[in-house]
Amino acid sequence: MKSKSFLVILSLIGFIILLNGFVSENPYFIITKKDVEVQHPKGFPKVVYEFNNNKPTPDGFILGRYLFYDPILSKDSSISCAFCHQRFAAFAHIDHALSHGINSLIGKRNVPAIQNEIWQKSFMWEGAVNHLEMQPLAPITNPMEMNEELPHLITKLQRNPAYIQRFQRAFHDTIINSEKVLKALAQFTGLMISNNSRYDRFIRHEDTLTSMEFAGLNLFRSHCENCHKEPLFTDNSFRNIGLVLDTLLKDSGRIALTGIVSDYMKFKVPSLRNVELTYPYMHDGRFRNLEQVLNHYAKGDFRTDNFDKSILRIVGLNETEKIQIIAFLKTLTDKTFTYDRRFADPTLY
Ligand code: HEC
Ligand code: HEC
Repeated sequence: MKSKSFLVILSLIGFIILLNGFVSENPYFIITKKDVEVQHPKGFPKVVYEFNNNKPTPDGFILGRYLFYDPILSKDSSISCAFCHQRFAAFAHIDHALSHGINSLIGKRNVPAIQNEIWQKSFMWEGAVNHLEMQPLAPITNPMEMNEELPHLITKLQRNPAYIQRFQRAFHDTIINSEKVLKALAQFTGLMISNNSRYDRFIRHEDTLTSMEFAGLNLFRSHCENCHKEPLFTDNSFRNIGLVLDTLLKDSGRIALTGIVSDYMKFKVPSLRNVELTYPYMHDGRFRNLEQVLNHYAKGDFRTDNFDKSILRIVGLNETEKIQIIAFLKTLTDKTFTYDRRFADPTLY
């Protein structure tokens, strides 16, 4: 009798451990000892970054993870990628309107979330970078962010026995260079896939939405879908939503990159996945909460001539409708993603 109940307890413990493993990990990307298996999320479009010549491996991924969390990437070893990109905020920076870099320098822009990057055609708020592997060069060398030079970074890594070993395991030789740094980082950030929010489970018929959330989804589809296209909640385009230029920051968006007049105040349509966690909002973090964002669209006080006319249909949204849309937006929060320990600081887990 005694041994029977012992067995029951033992199998219960085993079951809980097993359950825990499943709950905390995104089922669409599996790391075994030898391999990284990425399953294409159902309903998602074709990826842009196909990991060509950079197939993720367990050792490549873990190297990228160490690099992402290591302040060694900055000149005075004070700032890591993760300092600005916080896991619990879907890798945005909660509560900071503008990024904070080396020597407490305040940057010009709001830190965006990092998620579903392999589906993005371009990066940064105005699309200045168009390859995932090239993206980290910008923060590493930006004097306001990490202010480091690549040759110096490589020397520091070459002097570090732990990194010599990690590079050797990931790339099977002892040469450490910037190409490998960038590839490892792309393996790590490229696998930050968010597709297990309540919205996703609703679409997969695994969960339900409340009537308020469902009303919000319908309003979203008629008012926002044009730009924040499902299932990524961005159509990868650049748009002007009638925000007035901040005269201190003077960030006029994509025009600075292309020189095309009609690109004035155009910014990348951000994904709204995990938007509940990524406040404040917009390229300069000017709105503190979702109510302020909705009020901007609903008020219709658009300040630039070339604003995208599709936002006119949002003008006049009433209070109930705003509440419904916000309730829907919160179903995009994906705890499986933000709690996934495989994206945590490797020195902690
Ligand atoms: C000082 C804060 C800071 C640091 C450090 C930092 N970032 Fe960022 N990151 C930002 C900001 C701000 C942006 C948006 C920049 C822009 O639009 O000009 C950004 C953009 C990005 C994007 C593009 C997201 C998108 O979808 O457009 C990725 C990917 C990214 N960072 C990865 C990294 C990696 C990898 C590192 C470390 C090598 C890093 N970041 C270091 C602040 C930071
Ligand atoms: C014409 C295209 C367009 C439409 C329609 C549109 N948006 Fe946006 N949205 C954008 C762009 C572009 C930005 C970024 C602007 C910036 O930073 O300057 C943005 C930003 C946001 C943000 C801030 C996200 C962040 O991470 O900072 C939220 C929230 C948002 N939109 C919600 C909505 C909702 C809800 C609707 C419908 C009621 C909607 N949008 C309709 C283009 C659009």
